[in-house]
Amino acid sequence: MTEAKKVSLGPVTLGEGEMRGFPVGRRNVLVACVGGRLKAIDDWCNHAGCLLSGGHLEENMVVCPCHEIGFDLDTGKNMTSPGIADDQPAFTAELRDGELVLLDFPGE
Ligand code: FES
Repeated sequence: MTEAKKVSLGPVTLGEGEMRGFPVGRRNVLVACVGGRLKAIDDWCNHAGCLLSGGHLEENMVVCPCHEIGFDLDTGKNMTSPGIADDQPAFTAELRDGELVLLDFPGE
């Protein structure tokens, strides 16, 4: 089993309702700012591999641009099409000393 680790994405500014994708190791992570909090889930949609960061936000849900499955930004749960796609891995993101940090990113 791989151990979770802390990963810094560097100085990042995200306004309310904004989201962006970041390459992290061999993965991509979507980070969004909703309700004044940073939220992070795996950016590669497990349905067919599109980047969720190319989609749009609906309150606390990101909607995939390809087939419009929506995932909760806190839990990664598939909110719109259970059985069609799995849930997305979710991570804990926060600002520390001006840098965006993932606190529990899985090791590779
Ligand atoms: S690739 Fe995301 S919904 Fe199909």
